[in-house]
Amino acid sequence: MGIRPKKGRNMKNLRKSAGDSGWFTESRFGLFIHWGLYALPARNEWVMHNEGIPPEEYEKKYFRHFDPDLYDPGHWARAAKNAGMKYFAVTTKHHDGFCLWDSKLTGYKAPASPAGRDLLKPLLEAFRKEGFRTGLYHSLLDWHHPDYVSDPAKHDMPKYVEYLHGQVRELLTEFGVIDLLFLDFSSRKPDGTGKTREDWQSEKLYDMIRKLQPGIMLNDRLDLEEGWDIKTPEQVQPREWVAINGQPVVWEACQTFCNSWGYHRDESPWRDTDEIVRTLADCVSKGGNLLLNVGPTGRGELDERTLKRLEGIGRWMKNHGRAIYGCTKAPEEFKNPADCRLTYNPVKKRLYVHLFAWPYRHLCLDGTAYSERIEYVQLLHDASEVKTELTGNGPGSPFNGTKEEKGVRLTLPLKKPDTILPVLEIFLK
Ligand code: GLC
Repeated sequence: MGIRPKKGRNMKNLRKSAGDSGWFTESRFGLFIHWGLYALPARNEWVMHNEGIPPEEYEKKYFRHFDPDLYDPGHWARAAKNAGMKYFAVTTKHHDGFCLWDSKLTGYKAPASPAGRDLLKPLLEAFRKEGFRTGLYHSLLDWHHPDYVSDPAKHDMPKYVEYLHGQVRELLTEFGVIDLLFLDFSSRKPDGTGKTREDWQSEKLYDMIRKLQPGIMLNDRLDLEEGWDIKTPEQVQPREWVAINGQPVVWEACQTFCNSWGYHRDESPWRDTDEIVRTLADCVSKGGNLLLNVGPTGRGELDERTLKRLEGIGRWMKNHGRAIYGCTKAPEEFKNPADCRLTYNPVKKRLYVHLFAWPYRHLCLDGTAYSERIEYVQLLHDASEVKTELTGNGPGSPFNGTKEEKGVRLTLPLKKPDTILPVLEIFLK
């Protein structure tokens, strides 16, 4: 793993996390994998709930026919690596209760299905081999477990909680170092319904997690005030650095290509590659990460729609990764020019201007932070020089920015470079 935590990347008043956030904020880009029985109905991972399918029927149809004969986690890992991702989180169990690993606590697991084997272990191995940090998603809900669902009168939460904690213990003891844990989810509702920390015995679970994997980065869905490291907005982009009670926190947006997380055969429209790349730049410009989701098929493959996008993202990342890894929100004194996002590498003292719209010939960077600190500017993808001139010093022209406030005016090529999101690299003094 080439990524080492470095100091000084984040704001001074950033909320401290109990887990090791250094690798996490350095990496910036991860892969979310939603894979389980719901890949077979192929119409959303909530299909069991949405269509009111009873557990026996769901099991009969999908558990008995789950046979991912083309499963090759090495291929997934390479596709993610080429896309520029540095870590991942995979669904060990989603809300339908089906487990990818050989849990001793249930028979509702991949080895007992036609898959006939533990599907989690080879995945962890394959991703570790490609240098990834490891992450596990685990559902707190379980629509299959009899103590969780069945007849509400017989429903035995303490027994279910024993199962839940037991499974988390297995996951955190049997698979080596796990860097990230994504538990999903609690729902405290005003009318007292919904599942909360009391239901999961979240405090006890949190203590166990910290004891078993002290450095693990834990998400925020156990309904605990303090027991979390990462805030995880999903399917929305925060407008600014995510803050809790006014204090900025480590955060990660998790996003999908379309709406579903699990494989959905018929869903459209999918977001295009350039939208995803902009989303990544947007996250980093606000001090956050992007966890981008894929839903592999029931045969164990990433479909063409997914591969095409991962490849496109990878083409951009190859030449622009420097504007993402180890980067964060730019210091406030650098004003964001129109139609742009700024990212900043505090260790290298470089500022990156992501040009969401290609300017008409000139880009004006207003303010003395620019005029006093810019040393050299180039287009990042080909390291070609961008000419600069100081503005606001003389009579100038009323039209082209040279007369305006002190700053720097850049002269750009007429035509947008042939890359989905051009970036300027600014070396600061
Ligand atoms: C939601 C959904 C779920 C998905 C998760 C990802 O909680 O219930 O399907 O796994 O978000 O963050």
